[in-house]
Amino acid sequence: MSAVPVNEPLLDGNERRYLLECIDSGWISSEGSFVNRLEAGMAQRCGRRHAVAVCNGSAALEAAVAALQLGPNDEVILPTFTIISCAAAVVRSGAVPVLVDCEPATWNMDVAQVAAAITPRTRAILAVHVYGLPVDMDPLLGLAREHGIKIIEDAAEMHGQTYRGRPCGSMGDISVFSFYPNKLVTTGEGGMLLTDDDALAERCRGLRNLCFLPQRRFVHEELGWNFRMSNLQAAVGVAQLERLDGSIDRKRRMGHRYTERLQGTTGIELPLARTEAAENIYWVYGVVLDESVPFDAAEAMKRLAARGIGTRPFFWPMHEQPVFRRMGLFENLSFPVAERLARRGFYLPSGLALTDAQIDQAAGALREAVQG
Ligand SMILES: Cc1ncc(COP(=O)(O)O)c(C=O)c1O
Repeated sequence: MSAVPVNEPLLDGNERRYLLECIDSGWISSEGSFVNRLEAGMAQRCGRRHAVAVCNGSAALEAAVAALQLGPNDEVILPTFTIISCAAAVVRSGAVPVLVDCEPATWNMDVAQVAAAITPRTRAILAVHVYGLPVDMDPLLGLAREHGIKIIEDAAEMHGQTYRGRPCGSMGDISVFSFYPNKLVTTGEGGMLLTDDDALAERCRGLRNLCFLPQRRFVHEELGWNFRMSNLQAAVGVAQLERLDGSIDRKRRMGHRYTERLQGTTGIELPLARTEAAENIYWVYGVVLDESVPFDAAEAMKRLAARGIGTRPFFWPMHEQPVFRRMGLFENLSFPVAERLARRGFYLPSGLALTDAQIDQAAGALREAVQG
């Protein structure tokens, strides 16, 4: 392990106590009360009527696409700069993924390109908030209303973030979260779907649980998945959610410290501290090497690893994924902003357990790596 790991979660609240409650009571499956508590807590936090816990964020995206009944001939607009889970859910459904580039300053999907990509076949927009700042949602919500398009909001990285005062996770017809250990709320592995629509919530609950017919178990009119979350996972999540405000403060302080230490370093573009719509929560602290640096992110990450600093590369764009190119998707497409971010961007240690001294060490190592 690196001397400064790229991510280390904080698990020193009620996590242990709640896990012991599960073990002592014997409630370890998805039927325990912590699952309901985590669902209620997330619904309340995001101001939503329904929350449906699932086994990870990728599963939440699959279920969201299925719940909205997207399929062949339907076009879904999404950013090329995202995790493969987004495009995979669309492609597996048989729907057509339509990609857009991202904005150079926020790294989020370019909403002007979304407007230009709408056709009579567009059925949904998958809006993905990336790395700490929210997508500019109001124009997307306007387009959705105007054209009768659904919004799936991927807030996987955005627990506790807001957009013009509204919680991320409150704005999609269906919104999804991930609870992977690098997230601001973790359950080890886990995810959540949120919606205000009773029928959609019912569909999500069915899809998560193999679409058992309520009136006759083991009879199925549709194919679902076993995407259930266990009570053990939810127990950790309830403890994590209790401390979300503190975790956001901590991430912001970490982000500001990195920026203080790195500001003015030649060759490095730092994340935006804020937009008109939000203060960055620095889910991860990403940096981009500018063109004055004679090498790319892979080389910088190697130099940092040699100094004991863990890093992760930025997303690799969907239109450059070998798996999709083999399927004949995204041929001859080019999205220069995402291509540059993928080659020149990476993130520094960003876990909630990171100390100030480790931040200083990582920032110092980055300065040396880029300048040396
Ligand atoms: C934007 C985004 N969406 C979806 C996911 C998938 O979540 P999971 O890793 O829980 O499957 C991630 C994962 O980190 C993500 O960053």
